[in-house]
Amino acid sequence: MLTPADATTDGDATLLQPAQFRAALRSDVTRGLGASPKWLPPRWLYDPLGSELFEQITQLPEYYPTRTERAILTQCSPAVADITGARTLIELGSGSSDKTRLLLNALQERLPGITYAPVDVSASALAQAVAALSTDYPGLTMAPLVADFTTNLALPPLPGPRLLAFLGGTFGNLLPDERAVFLRSLRSRLAPGDRLLLGVDLVKDPDRIRAAYDDAAGVTASFSLNVLTMINRELKADFDLDAFEHVVLWDPQNEWIELRLRSRREQTVVLHDLGLHVRFAPGEDLRTEISAKFRPRRLADEMSKTGLEVTHWWTDPDRLYGLALVARDDDLTPPR
Ligand code: SAH
Ligand code: AVI
Repeated sequence: MLTPADATTDGDATLLQPAQFRAALRSDVTRGLGASPKWLPPRWLYDPLGSELFEQITQLPEYYPTRTERAILTQCSPAVADITGARTLIELGSGSSDKTRLLLNALQERLPGITYAPVDVSASALAQAVAALSTDYPGLTMAPLVADFTTNLALPPLPGPRLLAFLGGTFGNLLPDERAVFLRSLRSRLAPGDRLLLGVDLVKDPDRIRAAYDDAAGVTASFSLNVLTMINRELKADFDLDAFEHVVLWDPQNEWIELRLRSRREQTVVLHDLGLHVRFAPGEDLRTEISAKFRPRRLADEMSKTGLEVTHWWTDPDRLYGLALVARDDDLTPPR
């Protein structure tokens, strides 16, 4: 069940109405499966089961990004709260909002009465996160929003200064052109004093990266294959999951890892709702995700090309992962 309106909790707002949601799915699937090579935007990985599988991924021994980001946030959250003086925390792709608690604690310590606005395309993840937070943070004002940050980046007009958190490395799931569009759109919406806290996975030994996306327990394989189950259900398709293999490829030029589903044989998949027949050759791939890895200098360049500047940078001792605090290049004085 994917329809966002069905899964939102009381008080949640949704910018992603069911009709719009279905139209986006139909359009992305038609375009992506008609392309050569075949691909799908990664947002479709996050139906209720996909969101649950992602949470399992975060616990895997091979998957270092979540625990590394948590360790960095433990160190830097008080400084982030001091530097930004934020009264509102808006989080894009908030998922379980679990690591966010470190930021919420630091912000609340400095200024009781802050507002938290989690934004996610997964209504089920959002609803669970809000339920858990309302138990553990009884006084916290929350303004959850079901929205797609690639097509509808509406930042709620909540009290400033606002801190936007984009954690987990989700920024790296966007293609370079999409990242530029996203950053320009974000810049145009930043009010004076607003800041972005961006979590990025860093370039490292490709074997370490590959292992994180090809875990021994096969959870990432299930996560990737689940997009086919979702399409079967939502678009009355007949993908046979056993006919596809989870493949992980490191692209050294682009410095990103790709998740692909490789057809084990010649086959034609029927998508009844779209009246579409899609042929797969033996060994043909469908890309379900890219996950870009960054170098601090390249990230700073990417920011400056879109009128943004990295003002602070935190990393772990092994330089696996980084957190950047980012401001508009014409708004560099500390907010306070
Ligand atoms: N920030 C969390 C979750 C990361 S998983 C963490 O660090 O653990 C990526 C999250 O982004 C998922 O919850 C997914 O539903 C959400 N997401 C992916 N694409 C999105 C999009 N286009 N718009 C809004 N949310 C998106
Ligand atoms: C959410 N995103 C940053 C994860 C990543 O590492 O790119 C999604 C993921 N895909 C497979 N494992 C985790």
